[in-house]
Amino acid sequence: MKLFDVYPINPIEIVKGKGSYVYDANGQEYLDLYGGHAVISIGHSHPHYIHRITDQLNKLGFYSNSIEIPLQSQLAELLGKISDKKDYQLFLCNSGAEANENALKLASFYNGRKKVIAFKGAFHGRTSLAVSATDNPKIIAPVNETDNVIFLPFNDEEALEKTFAEQGELISSVIIEGVQGVGGIRVATQSFLQKIRELSTQYNAIFIADSVQCGYGRSGKFYSHDYAEVDADIYSMAKGMGNGFPIGAISISPKIKPWFGELGTTFGGNHLACVAALAVLETMEKEQLIQNAAEIGDYLKTELQRFDEIKEVRGNGLMIGIELPEEFNQVKKDLLFKNHIFTGEAKPNVIRLLPALNIGRKEADRFLEALSERIRSYKVKL
Ligand SMILES: Cc1ncc(COP(=O)(O)O)c(C=O)c1O
Repeated sequence: MKLFDVYPINPIEIVKGKGSYVYDANGQEYLDLYGGHAVISIGHSHPHYIHRITDQLNKLGFYSNSIEIPLQSQLAELLGKISDKKDYQLFLCNSGAEANENALKLASFYNGRKKVIAFKGAFHGRTSLAVSATDNPKIIAPVNETDNVIFLPFNDEEALEKTFAEQGELISSVIIEGVQGVGGIRVATQSFLQKIRELSTQYNAIFIADSVQCGYGRSGKFYSHDYAEVDADIYSMAKGMGNGFPIGAISISPKIKPWFGELGTTFGGNHLACVAALAVLETMEKEQLIQNAAEIGDYLKTELQRFDEIKEVRGNGLMIGIELPEEFNQVKKDLLFKNHIFTGEAKPNVIRLLPALNIGRKEADRFLEALSERIRSYKVKL
């Protein structure tokens, strides 16, 4: 049987990881500033993470949501504390798309409406409603096509106001990434997020903060939407939550009341997933990783802004986009194959940095030197 060939992959086999470094089958070391799509939050093979998962596996790996799982309440407690949303409610699932799918569905159950406002450049996942709210027609199958999603320009307050004025009574939810990831590291302005809050409250729509990529401390605050000092009604999360163990969740405002059977999943909130997520939060708290993300992120951004060749540096904390002119479009590839540094890409000429939240100055400096070397080598060639 062959694999279903949907991923354009790099010809590298990673066999080991430690902290912010990974190693291929030949023993070559790479600096990992991508974390496998923003997933590695506390570093590869963190000892506390290994201990927690191994310990749990020796007791019980899985049982479903038909019994009491106190680990879920422990996770809810700690997440409520660290995210400063103690009165919110936690629903656990398995991925980012599933988190958004549940968020959109819950919003619709809440107000009985059908329309969703999403934004140009958005990526919310590949399940049916999440993909319909994703601004990429190529990945929307005919069966997922719907008139229920209204796409508006990102950060355009006027367009938002106009849409609410015209269709406010029909709008179930507004879904927005605090920092668009796939869309090229574009930060939602504070006043735009405040406007979403204001209009959602006025029209009884649900404000969904997609924090799957930009959340969980990555931005230098727990949720990147926190920069605007607003509370969303639902936060969706996944990637960094389990440091590689598949887990997703939504954090739900107390105003939304559950009923039995409203949402559900077989695997969501299983014992292993919960301990993985607990290990991440415990480490984030103990090692002050949100603060580190803010500090190292600021350092990187300040240093990157000194490069004359870079068109724009965007992002918050350790979610950084570096927009380069077109002639530098080989930089990402060369960083990987010549400097052995993993970075991500968003749009053709934006390098995406999504490292673990515990990278240090050493790793940041190694990247800055490598980038400078790459840019110099291109300038010689041009
Ligand atoms: C902002 C955002 N939302 C949702 C998703 C979907 O997450 P998953 O791939 O876990 O389904 C992603 C994945 O890249 C994402 O970046």
